[in-house]
Amino acid sequence: MQEVNFGIIGSGTVGGGVLKAIQRNGPLMSSRLGVRLTLLKVAVKNKAKTRPVPVPASLMCTRWEEVVRDPRIHVVIEAVGGTKTAKAIVMKSLASGKVVVTANKALISAHGEEIFEAAQRYGVNFYYEAAVGGGIPIIKVLREGLVGNRINRIYGIVNGTCNYILTRMKLEGLEFDEVLKDAQRLGYAEAEPSLDVDGDDAMHKTGILASLAHGFWVNPKQIHMEGIRAISRMDIQFAERLGYTIKLLGIVKKLEKTSGPGRRRKGFVPVQVSVFPTLVPNSHVLASVNHEFNAIFMRGDVVGDTLYYGRGAGQDATASAVLSDLADAALDLKTGNMNRIPPFVPHEGEGTVLDIDEVVSRYYVRLSVVDRPGTLAKIATILGRSKIGISSVIQPEGHEGESVPLILMIHDASHAAMNRALTEIGRLPVIKAAPTMIRVETFD
Ligand code: NDP
Ligand code: HSE
Repeated sequence: MQEVNFGIIGSGTVGGGVLKAIQRNGPLMSSRLGVRLTLLKVAVKNKAKTRPVPVPASLMCTRWEEVVRDPRIHVVIEAVGGTKTAKAIVMKSLASGKVVVTANKALISAHGEEIFEAAQRYGVNFYYEAAVGGGIPIIKVLREGLVGNRINRIYGIVNGTCNYILTRMKLEGLEFDEVLKDAQRLGYAEAEPSLDVDGDDAMHKTGILASLAHGFWVNPKQIHMEGIRAISRMDIQFAERLGYTIKLLGIVKKLEKTSGPGRRRKGFVPVQVSVFPTLVPNSHVLASVNHEFNAIFMRGDVVGDTLYYGRGAGQDATASAVLSDLADAALDLKTGNMNRIPPFVPHEGEGTVLDIDEVVSRYYVRLSVVDRPGTLAKIATILGRSKIGISSVIQPEGHEGESVPLILMIHDASHAAMNRALTEIGRLPVIKAAPTMIRVETFD
């Protein structure tokens, strides 16, 4: 049987999970693959730390270079996180002819193109199944399962921490901060949790999905991103009364050539790539994806609608995806074909991320207004002047005081038009707080 040796750098939530899973299922994987998988080294920062998954002393080291430089090691699993040390680990490993496996979406988002180019140059592979969707094999779905499709739509709940927070705020009426602490304790959140709640993590993942689906590398700076910090329990409750659930959605929509500044260019493919809290109709399957679960809804031109669901964060789900990459790396080495599944294949010619100002959607708007005759007329006049149509107006009963909530449901409008109108509305003396605007998705 062929031998494949590997090392893990980092033994926190993810690295510890991989260690635990390989101890449990390593022999099973070896017999399935016909490759003996042997873990030779685990690098950590602090050797003295007590770990829920203990690292055998015979494997532990404190310098990542010891893993990367070990000539016996064929595969390096990077589970450190961040972009600086992680990039050095990945680039040095590839340069040493080692296959690299990572769960690090921040790294791929920031340096993916450079890493893919290096993998090709050094003739080794780079795997990142755990970077999107936790335990859901979504990278394999896009690269292999749906290779015969043009992908027209992706709607993803891709951040477990945000989904966990929004779910508990809705089901238990809890406050944001209380729930975030639990997400951290359970190992769902990033070391820097603002990456979760401000939308960066979902943006990194959505960018990776968009790039794979459309074959041009999406610059993260072009992805419009809003997090969940501004979502209040009040909005969650009003949305519920209107028949919606608020979810943080990563959206990748291929649009008609008639939109976008490059529309006259040959081969131009305008694609909306965005991350923001969204009102999802309760009748849609994504509305019932709860807690740390992720789900990715994809529409291919041949297959139609498909849905992928599973745990999107946490130790075991992520470990499962890392093991799948380890298996692919082992098969590369077994077959001697290091290009079996290239990390990224450019295709579909020219794609362009559509400017958020041009993105059209429906909206939920919550205003805090003085309860006085004429208020609604002033607001409607501004919207009317901007050619923005109101589909319904709700002034919920039971609110008293200097200001009361007023909910407007808005027909299709561009982001630019809505922003302009809400800025003007926000300046009216009858408006008592900054307007809240959340997009409503129709999944057309
Ligand atoms: P943790 O903070 O739990 O673990 C990081 C590990 O890296 C620790 O074991 C730490 O050592 C080690 N480390 C840090 N610096 C060094 C260094 N210079 N040399 C050697 N080891 C070092 O992070 P996670 O496991 O949560 O995340 C790791 C990666 O996985 C990130 O990219 C994250 O985005 C990604 N990810 C996380 C998921 C999750 O659910 N948590 C899911 C999917 C992806 P020590 O223990 O000694 O401090
Ligand atoms: N912090 C990430 C999340 C981990 O909550 O989804 C999984 O990528």
